[in-house]
Amino acid sequence: MKILIGISGASGAIYGIRLLQVLQEAGHHTELIVSPWAEKIIAQETDYTPEKVKTLASAVHDYHDMSAPPASGSNKLDAAAIVPCSMKTLASIAHGYVDNLMGRTADVMLKERKKIIIVPRETPLNLIHIENMRHLLLAGAVLLPPMPSFYHYPENIDDIINHTVGKILDVLNIEHELFLRWRGLN
Ligand SMILES: Cc1cc2nc3c(=O)[nH]c(=O)nc-3n(C[C@H](O)[C@H](O)[C@H](O)COP(=O)(O)O)c2cc1C
Repeated sequence: MKILIGISGASGAIYGIRLLQVLQEAGHHTELIVSPWAEKIIAQETDYTPEKVKTLASAVHDYHDMSAPPASGSNKLDAAAIVPCSMKTLASIAHGYVDNLMGRTADVMLKERKKIIIVPRETPLNLIHIENMRHLLLAGAVLLPPMPSFYHYPENIDDIINHTVGKILDVLNIEHELFLRWRGLN
């Protein structure tokens, strides 16, 4: 699969990084866009540098380059995921105000009726966030908040990260064994 990953400036850059690692290990073609704020957050929240994160992708695009291939509907991506998605990037996509390549790619995926997964990261949520998510749902995006579950008995932060990344892979129809699936109560 050819999948574009956007990492925007919300807490939880590690979700996007882990997704890139898993897709690289599984042999998928990934394209990466990192926002300027995400670069700062990667450095602050993780053991990675932005440069190291970029080595996990098959190709990297400049956040400001509106002439890059993903900006066009004629560029054949199978899916895109913004992981994590800040409320600012989410708002820009929800309202079609896309002045950078990450937002433009999401806009293109929506207009082409392609799979676009948004992993919103904020809490608590205000009405503006909720309304923007509603717009995106109605426009065809998959909203996948990084909400931990406990039915797979997470023992550490990695288990919690893998659960959300596994849920993203489920939406992409990519097989994985990142978490134990719910087997029922009996
Ligand atoms: C350390 C740090 C953590 C942040 N976490 C979040 C967050 O979880 N969610 C969010 O919507 N914004 C968060 N922000 C604010 C965004 O970075 C800010 O709105 C920025 O303009 C987003 O730009 P971008 O979406 O283009 O990356 C955070 C900022 C910093 C410095």
